[in-house]
Amino acid sequence: MEYLNIGSVRIEKTAALAPMASVADRAYRMICREHGAAYAVSEMISAKGLCFSDRKTEELCTVDEREHPYALQLFGDDPYYCAEAAKRLADFGPDIIDINMGCPVPKIAGNGSGSALMRDVPRAAQIASAVVKAVDLPVTCKIRAGWDADSINAPEMAHVLEDAGIAAVAVHGRTRMQMYHGIADPDVIRRVKEAVKIPVIGNGDVTSPAGAKRMYDVTGCDLVMIGRGSYGDPWIFERVRHFLATGEELAPPSIDERLSEMIRQTEMAVSFKGERLAMAEARRLCSFYIRGIKNAAKYRGRCGMLKTLDDVRTLADEIRNDTQI
Ligand SMILES: Cc1cc2nc3c(=O)[nH]c(=O)nc-3n(C[C@H](O)[C@H](O)[C@H](O)COP(=O)(O)O)c2cc1C
Repeated sequence: MEYLNIGSVRIEKTAALAPMASVADRAYRMICREHGAAYAVSEMISAKGLCFSDRKTEELCTVDEREHPYALQLFGDDPYYCAEAAKRLADFGPDIIDINMGCPVPKIAGNGSGSALMRDVPRAAQIASAVVKAVDLPVTCKIRAGWDADSINAPEMAHVLEDAGIAAVAVHGRTRMQMYHGIADPDVIRRVKEAVKIPVIGNGDVTSPAGAKRMYDVTGCDLVMIGRGSYGDPWIFERVRHFLATGEELAPPSIDERLSEMIRQTEMAVSFKGERLAMAEARRLCSFYIRGIKNAAKYRGRCGMLKTLDDVRTLADEIRNDTQI
């Protein structure tokens, strides 16, 4: 097994779980880590929200011992608040602090945070430098290719952030204007890799072990990061690990395994944040776990109506009967 170091944190060179707000919560991340994710990044956390002790924000920071190695991600537009927030995040015990410089949604980018920083490189550098100075942990940044097709600046941006002291950079090969459409460009990740000495994490559109290998081969990146490819499929991480080690594909999980993991993840989410909150997100999560099974369309409709953990167990029993497991 090969490893890379982010600062002093040793990470398996397989595939990491990308940060995904309202998806990759503590239960999701723990399941992915159990299935071999090299490390996981939290949902993004507002620097100002944390400084003003918003209770909901603090919930997002809670790290389970079983999650290490693990990054907490913050977003903000102000070096002072980002540095103060980073100090508070450090108290929750992460291994790495990550700064979001890629979020495209208007609520974030419209306020000068996330991908807006791709258009304000000096401010991005000030934020990175302030956070690096504030904490005794490795600091990473997650960036996009650029703001739009006419302003691809990830290589320059990464270089400036490296000078500001960050320990690694993750690059999603789409521009802000692409949001999540079109395709992620691996070439821009390759150019970032040429521009910096710190580890580069390649991200965007990896949905299979062969896709992860392609990302390594085409970009020369030090680590692959997977987001949506893990929806309902935490096994992707062990399949990537196995494929990179042997060149062979592991068999996909059985329907029974998928249903059991769907229940286990919902149980964990309910225990962490209560049934009402957990079930709002579980409705979507469950529909991913049943993708492609017999009568999936009918069961997807049922997923939208799930209200309790027992509803999830009942749904799983029905699917088991239907598919005669
Ligand atoms: C639902 C959703 C939520 C996301 N939330 C975050 C976030 O909080 N922070 C962040 O840096 N990126 C976030 N992203 C972007 C992902 O981390 C990743 O860069 C993007 O999905 C491309 O990778 P993929 O093709 O493997 O999904 C989010 C993406 C999705 C789909």
